[in-house]
Amino acid sequence: IMTRTPLIAGNWKMNLDHLQSIAFVQKLAWSLKDASHSFDDVEVAIFPPFTDLRSVQTLVSADKLELAYGAQDVSAHDSGAYTGEISGQFLAKLECAYVIIGHSERRTLHNETDEEIGAKVAAALKHGLVPVLCVGETAEDLEKFGPSAVPVAQLKAALAGVASDANLVVAYEPVWAIGSGQAATPEQAEQVCAALRAELATTLSSETAAATRILYGGSVKSGNIAGFMREPNVDGALVGGASLDLDEFSAIVRYKK
Ligand code: G3P
Repeated sequence: IMTRTPLIAGNWKMNLDHLQSIAFVQKLAWSLKDASHSFDDVEVAIFPPFTDLRSVQTLVSADKLELAYGAQDVSAHDSGAYTGEISGQFLAKLECAYVIIGHSERRTLHNETDEEIGAKVAAALKHGLVPVLCVGETAEDLEKFGPSAVPVAQLKAALAGVASDANLVVAYEPVWAIGSGQAATPEQAEQVCAALRAELATTLSSETAAATRILYGGSVKSGNIAGFMREPNVDGALVGGASLDLDEFSAIVRYKK
């Protein structure tokens, strides 16, 4: 039987400069090492702003921290005349394991299309980064099309050019739940995550679908994480606001089912 290691990921968004990131990672590392509050078999990852990544790499490698990290976006291109863009090559050199792609804030505020997101997924995979592909519907979509249609269509579109054995993570983030304090219910999350897994089986392969971690994101806190983690198709969380609060984030990592 296939087991998936749960992944608790913190998306810092545009918060914490590189000096603040050093202090935060040092404290987080202490908290994660605290044997009196142990946690089992959970992978922890953080997604700081680009300008923090070199500092985070230095800390993680010097202290051999069991903390993965990645960027919040990546260019679809490798190098060249793309002012303001960051290549997957650069992120791989900073030993990023992951990169968030297609976050709803990029889809809406930066008009990223499914096609661009698909190209970014391909670029990440090409450079050995694991994409954390975000999908999710707005409140309006939910009313019009029901719970799974939009996230499943976004997933399908982003995977168009991807190999059937691709190593990726999917994050289901309903737009109405992001930063609203109004999380989806565990049942709602499970329904969509199960539909996303079925789509992975169709578009990629059943093996890949069984191996791929699907996260829930949107107003996750220490008080609601356990409910999500009890669901069979929810393999972790992508945490925004609560990932900036050390005590909250540490408590989320230590959820008990
Ligand atoms: O990527 C995580 C995010 O969009 C969820 O944010 O603040 O609702 O946990 P938040």
